[in-house]
Amino acid sequence: MPHLLSEIQRLTHHPITMKSMSMSRMAILRTMFLFSACIGIGFACGDDSSLKEVFRHHFMIGGALNDELVSGKDPQAAALVERHFNSITPENVMKWEHLQPEPGKFTFEAADRVVEFGVKRGMFIVGHTLIWHHQTPSWVFQDSNGKPVDRKTLLKRMKDHISTVVGRYRGKVRGWDVVNEALNEDGSMRQSSWMMVIGEDYVATAFAYAHEADPSAELYYNDFSLENEPKRHGALRLVKDLQARKIRIDGVGTQGHYKLDWPSPAQVEQTIEAFAGLGLGVMITELDVDVLPYDIETGAEISMRTEFRAELNPYPTSLPPDKEQELARRYADLFRVFVKHADKISRVTFWGVYDGRSWLNDWPVRGRTNHPLLFDRSYRPKPAFFAVVQTARKIH
Ligand code: G3I
Repeated sequence: MPHLLSEIQRLTHHPITMKSMSMSRMAILRTMFLFSACIGIGFACGDDSSLKEVFRHHFMIGGALNDELVSGKDPQAAALVERHFNSITPENVMKWEHLQPEPGKFTFEAADRVVEFGVKRGMFIVGHTLIWHHQTPSWVFQDSNGKPVDRKTLLKRMKDHISTVVGRYRGKVRGWDVVNEALNEDGSMRQSSWMMVIGEDYVATAFAYAHEADPSAELYYNDFSLENEPKRHGALRLVKDLQARKIRIDGVGTQGHYKLDWPSPAQVEQTIEAFAGLGLGVMITELDVDVLPYDIETGAEISMRTEFRAELNPYPTSLPPDKEQELARRYADLFRVFVKHADKISRVTFWGVYDGRSWLNDWPVRGRTNHPLLFDRSYRPKPAFFAVVQTARKIH
């Protein structure tokens, strides 16, 4: 018991005395749960290491930031970012609908804020994302009569957008997700408006425009579910095609929107090896682990949604210790693979900072309570955090 109390104090930074029971009972109970989850899996909780320090010999550690955090409205989240991350990606504000909502009218305020945030702190800033089928306003694909636009016009719009955006952040944004999610699950090209109007070479053209706008920027293809063989083969084909045309591509981002039971560590490993085998850098770009049940197979396909039902939201307050343990083991398994292949991986970026603001609270079911990241709703490190830290220590 004395050990348990001192562990609680260490974890919470709250001195516990008979007189000052300053923590609420709930907080103490939760911490006891957390402690039991840690000892249940044999990880040393209470280690207040910085992730970017722990993995400094392996890869950069990044996070996706929302505008609230960047503009100072979520200082506790910003403190986590400063302590743990050396790379940032804007979660939403560099998507086309945010940057150019109307033809020729660019709105850079929020994107400027995130770039300034990163530059001030010397972080590696990733631009996300130039060409995506989603969050792109419909005007982009229409002529003045609302009819589908022709190839030449769409190429011009693509070029104007890419050269304006990449040009603005030249030398500050060091890498760009140039094309996002161009593939179907079977590895064929997604029939997006980009594909239907321009044809398959829209991918190569987007990369060429980005390179022209900032020759020193790294350029990436980014997608989810690349751990599944058919889609991975599609991506390999797409990348080889760029390489055959001598188009610059520096890396592939495998998004890493994972579940507790998918993909297997072996699938993750095969994916890293396959892209590295083409001479490319590999990045885990949007890492999170969905712990909630699902009733549809979604990958991370944003267009898929399902209705809220209570049984799809089983942990509305906190994760029970056995699930905390399962999540911690899962993260440890994943990071063991990442550390093993650190020579091929340049960056591991989490899609968010803490559970309270993860996109997975609202997708594919709106209004659930998900627990996919390393920091909980009170900004505290979870057993999964300590498990991840341990993976670096065990190897070095
Ligand atoms: O900000 C508005 C808010 O004012 C409004 O009340 C609310 C009502 O729905 O919507 C809010 O905007 C939402 C926005 O996230 C900010 O939370 C949008 O509806 C919602 O569509 C948007 O979702 C984003 C999604 O991409 C679509 O762009 C997620 O935050 C973002 O995490 C997610 O990120 C994508 C990557 O870019 C690509 N890979 C998959 C990944 C997950 O879908």
